[in-house]
Amino acid sequence: MTQENRPILVTGGAGFIGSNFVLDWFALEPSPVINLDKLTYAGNPLTLSSLEGNPGYTFVHGDICDGDLVANLLTKYRPRAIVHFAAESHVDRSILGPEAFLKTNIDGTFTLLRAAQAYYQTLEGVEKEGFRFHHVSTDEVFGTLKPEDPAFHEETPYAPNSPYAASKAASDHLVRAWHHTYGLPTLMTNCSNNYGPYHFPEKLIPLMITHALEGKPLPVYGDGLQVRDWLYVKDHCSAIRTVLAKGTVGETYNVGGCNQRTNLEVVNLLCELLDELVPESKFRPHKQLIQFVTDRPGHDRRYAIDARKIERELGWKPAESFDTGLRKTVKWYLSNTAWVEGVTSGAYKQWIEKNYGSRKAEQ
Ligand code: NAD
Ligand code: DAU
Repeated sequence: MTQENRPILVTGGAGFIGSNFVLDWFALEPSPVINLDKLTYAGNPLTLSSLEGNPGYTFVHGDICDGDLVANLLTKYRPRAIVHFAAESHVDRSILGPEAFLKTNIDGTFTLLRAAQAYYQTLEGVEKEGFRFHHVSTDEVFGTLKPEDPAFHEETPYAPNSPYAASKAASDHLVRAWHHTYGLPTLMTNCSNNYGPYHFPEKLIPLMITHALEGKPLPVYGDGLQVRDWLYVKDHCSAIRTVLAKGTVGETYNVGGCNQRTNLEVVNLLCELLDELVPESKFRPHKQLIQFVTDRPGHDRRYAIDARKIERELGWKPAESFDTGLRKTVKWYLSNTAWVEGVTSGAYKQWIEKNYGSRKAEQ
């Protein structure tokens, strides 16, 4: 078997970015995928139902904190790479319940690193030379920017502000240490806010689309002038494939869309798109649904990514603009109502009540 045809082990492949990555991987790459996912509230096997019966696809329902399971999978499938997406990923949930974040994001990454290192020691020749541990991380580890600050670059000091960001920062440091101390061939990407198909409707963009379609209030935190740097999810996936194929071992690469928008701008754009694409809606103009609510505690004011390193060294650039990506995204949600209904049942409703119930409407 050639190196390219050997499998990769993906963690968290039933979540938003992981599932987009797995689906794109099967469209573009020759090698099999083993997908290890715990199927938390954020993991949805239905997203990958088109891969059922595909001999190259293996789904394993399990926890990255289970060291024996991870070690057995590595011994059994002998992957050429681990692409590590699995995480608790929602900032608001980390504020109301940080425990799971420390467990999965820190302990889970530690467990994977230890198992990967033991497995790496058993490899020889091209198998050893080619092995990579790719850690998928976030720009939130860098903290928050003032309006005049330059964008985050790879040397920006870490200053995480939420329990989520702190747990991701800890995992990044572990990855760095496993490379530096034990020589594990690691790669790391720190990406800005993603949006696109299969995004769980607890996050800003899918929450606003699904609420607007039902005529529910669109809850904008604080003054809505916080800035995020948005990237279409398939561009994030192409960046990960590029770094996996060509990245320098031990390096980190910042990934972003060079597309800074205030939250209010994003919500207004979504409302305009829905006015256009759902002309029969009785909630038009959808902007009337916008409601300012109590801010997120510790809310980071601005994120922005300087992605010049990955462009200069590896030739990666996003393919999608915000206008084209957002239009595709809204159309996707309009044509995939069954997927949305599947993920917005009982537990989701409880989350909405828990997170928004006590927020006051503000002027
Ligand atoms: P997500 O919450 O949509 O999906 C996470 C997936 O991990 C789910 O399928 C879940 O079941 C699985 N999982 C959680 N705990 C697990 C465990 N203990 N063992 C095995 N599987 C487990 O997250 P996402 O938005 O797809 O993010 C994926 C990764 O990308 C995360 O590491 C996140 O920090 C990072 N990231 C996300 C963004 C973004 O905008 N969403 C941006 C940059 C980086
Ligand atoms: O920057 C990368 C990060 O982007 C990822 O690491 C995280 O996993 C991902 O969840 C995302 O974090 P954010 O906190 O930026 O995303 P979220 O969609 O939760 O919020 C985006 C902005 O919108 C943020 O400023 C908070 C605001 N917001 C969010 C929600 C859910 C609102 O105003 N109202 C809302 O109801």
